[in-house]
Amino acid sequence: MTESAPVIAIDGPSGSGKGTIARRVADALGWHLLDSGALYRLVALAAEKSGASLHDPEVLAQVARTLDVEFDSNEDGAERIRLSGKDVTLDVRTEETGARASAVAAIPAVRTALLERQRGFQQPPGLVADGRDMGTQVFPDARHKIFLTASAEERARRRHKQLKDKGLDVSLAALSRDIEDRDRRDSERSVAPLRPAEDARILDSSGRSIEAVTQTVLDWVAER
Ligand code: DC
Repeated sequence: MTESAPVIAIDGPSGSGKGTIARRVADALGWHLLDSGALYRLVALAAEKSGASLHDPEVLAQVARTLDVEFDSNEDGAERIRLSGKDVTLDVRTEETGARASAVAAIPAVRTALLERQRGFQQPPGLVADGRDMGTQVFPDARHKIFLTASAEERARRRHKQLKDKGLDVSLAALSRDIEDRDRRDSERSVAPLRPAEDARILDSSGRSIEAVTQTVLDWVAER
């Protein structure tokens, strides 16, 4: 029955609001959620903790294959992520981990190692999957494919606020540079580059509220 669970693939660049929108859509529908970026971030963290080199594809693929992760939420509904039993919720979201994740994500063996784990999230009643290649590689048959964008300035501003709310202080200028670097690396890599699937609908979230964008996605889903 797993094959028949519908998938909504939400791809897009860093700071486009994918994570927030995907969570809202999953909550509204009562579907499962896959935050695939978190998996790449966890590989980077696990590699760092075990002292593995970020330049050794085989070792990194092994780290990806053997990741011991638990996703859940605390009493307030806020996400909580454990790596080998240890709470790494905050570590996972830092810019440093994001930059490392982007480097690790460019390694084909790591992507292959995470493929089946990601597909395992496709369970009834349905899955909302967010990332860079959900519609192109991981769930090419997804019923709905959405490519969420926003201007680079707006993405940097949002990320800044997000990090500040978590008590992490980073300069806006540094963040803009990081976002541009990461976009470039994610779009130009030869394996699974960031790009919309041919059958994806493009949704620009610039200047639009979270509620409005979530509603547009739900309207598109209801159309089919
Ligand atoms: O969405 P995020 O910022 O948590 O993702 C972290 C990094 O992981 C991002 O720079 C690119 C990579 N990534 C990827 O290559 N493929 C995905 N499906 C999700 C994330």
